[in-house]
Amino acid sequence: MLWFKALHLIFMVTWFAGLFYLPRLFVYHAMSSDQTSLDRFKIMERKLFIIMTIGAVFTLIFGTGLLISANYITAGIPLWLKIKFVLLAMLGIYHWHCGKLVGIFKQDNNKYSHGFLRWYNEFPAMMLIVIVLLAVLRPS
Ligand code: HEM
Repeated sequence: MLWFKALHLIFMVTWFAGLFYLPRLFVYHAMSSDQTSLDRFKIMERKLFIIMTIGAVFTLIFGTGLLISANYITAGIPLWLKIKFVLLAMLGIYHWHCGKLVGIFKQDNNKYSHGFLRWYNEFPAMMLIVIVLLAVLRPS
């Protein structure tokens, strides 16, 4: 149980490192025009997306381990956890969309401005704050 929680948090940090930095790379990528930078950003984005996807999968695996070992399945899911699941679904969609953007940038097809991407970059920070507050304070 405690091992699951430690590993859940370790992989959550890995996941969020990517969720914070990949959209930042999109901002710099959208501002670049020289071929060397474009090629370098494509490699960085692809590799970071792979690492953050591994982080997401293991966060999910150990989160599910916690869900089972803490008896939530049999005792019932509390409200804070239900809200957390809704936010996680939104975060999953954001993650998927980051993957789409990696493909779009790879094809040199990006139409988003760096201004828009700066706002896009703020979403994971809001999710992190709300999810951690929910998981730690557990309002019923
Ligand atoms: C990916 C799917 C996820 C699932 C299925 C999941 C599920 C869980 C469960 C069941 C617990 C244990 C609650 C308890 O000890 O009774 C937990 C703890 C925790 N989760 Fe998640 N979680 C997920 C993702 C996340 C994410 C993305 C974050 C952060 C943004 C997060 C932050 C935390 C924190 C901080 C705790 C520890 C709370 C504490 O014991 O004080 N989880 N999670």
